Amino acid sequence: MQASAVVRYARIGLWPGYPIKKQDSMMTIDKQAAREDLLSEPGFIHLDNAGAALMPRCVLQAQTDHLRLEASVGGYEAKRLRHDAIEAVYDSIARLINCRRDEVAIVENATVGWMMAFYAIPFQPGDRILTAEAEYASNYLAYLQIARDRGVVVETIPSTASGEVCVESLEAMIDARVRLIAITHVPTNGGLVNPVEEIGAVARAHDILYLVDACQSAGQIALDVDAIQCDLLSATGRKYLRGPRGVGFLYVDSRVLDSLHPPMIDLFSARWIDAGHYELRADARRFENWESNYAAKLGLGCAIDYALAIGLGDIEIEVCRLADSLRAQLAGIPGVGVHDIGKRKCGIVTFSVAGVDSTEVETRLRQLGINVNMTTPSSTLIDATRRELPEMVRSSVHYYNQESDLEALVKAVGEIARAAAPSAVGNR
Ligand SMILES: Cc1ncc(COP(=O)(O)O)c(C=O)c1O
Repeated sequence: MQASAVVRYARIGLWPGYPIKKQDSMMTIDKQAAREDLLSEPGFIHLDNAGAALMPRCVLQAQTDHLRLEASVGGYEAKRLRHDAIEAVYDSIARLINCRRDEVAIVENATVGWMMAFYAIPFQPGDRILTAEAEYASNYLAYLQIARDRGVVVETIPSTASGEVCVESLEAMIDARVRLIAITHVPTNGGLVNPVEEIGAVARAHDILYLVDACQSAGQIALDVDAIQCDLLSATGRKYLRGPRGVGFLYVDSRVLDSLHPPMIDLFSARWIDAGHYELRADARRFENWESNYAAKLGLGCAIDYALAIGLGDIEIEVCRLADSLRAQLAGIPGVGVHDIGKRKCGIVTFSVAGVDSTEVETRLRQLGINVNMTTPSSTLIDATRRELPEMVRSSVHYYNQESDLEALVKAVGEIARAAAPSAVGNR
């Protein structure tokens, strides 16, 4: 692909432009430009985008510019000087998920966002929490803690035969005691995409609080909180959004804001009125606290603008195309099991090799310069137990990956599988 085919988007602030959209072909993302915007050494293959994706140059630059400014004028003055750019990050998040800027809190990571929301809910004894079978471990641990402390009941919604949350079963479970429906959009342990919009329709119809963990979907799937009809949604910077580590965000619907008191407050989230009183901030930033990593915030804003300039629709198409191809190729290798389920799948591809520990597979791949990750049963214990999942290798593609990355992974996995079962593969 020619560089001339690249449409350069408007420069924002100090940073280089947002590239990589083609005008003139079916493939709308200019992969070559996307790859030229990576900092990796040639030959390095990154297939751990669900762990932490690769930042584009401008995201790195947004952070280093701010760190340099902090080093030269001090953190407080740097914040004053970049006030407008820092505020614009809230607008970027609002555009990403289609909400108002005052419904956004920028926090340290997805876990902090999710926990601040969850522990703000005034649960009463006997309240029911309905969640997915493939719920993320940290979220489920929080349910168990609240169950222990407040007598709340935690129940998992059965899955359909294809693996996602069964919306009919959810509907049948609703009664007056259901206080919260909490769903992970894309579970950490596979390519499944839960039907968060259909679940949201049930939650809204019954006026039940609805919390979505969009940690693995933000950046690879378009998110629209109006369409999802969620009250709360959390996400992180470093995964599919291609932002920095140590930053994430929480969306809080203004309809429910005043019913939620943050579990911890400080002089930023609340105003101290007198010896006996305080008043919470009127916006979602009541879930933030005073000190913040502004370089990471600016990097997050840059990453979001970058993703929006390409278009989440186009990103999802390319991510799914690559992941479908990878699944099919891996499934064709004797001795390799692909474990992804779900009618709708995304960029995460999980597999195991018969007779070889997944940790060993991961290590061998890393030695070849292929970055993948592991997912263990304890990260989604209920789903893993139900499906008798082993430890799995988690590979995850992004739009900047290319066919040759997949071929390298498939070739290496094929060799590992062949070495483990020479007789089976001899017949291919
Ligand atoms: C589904 C899901 N939710 C939440 C998290 C936690 O995100 P963070 O590490 O940004 O707090 C993860 C991390 O892998 C995840 O996969």
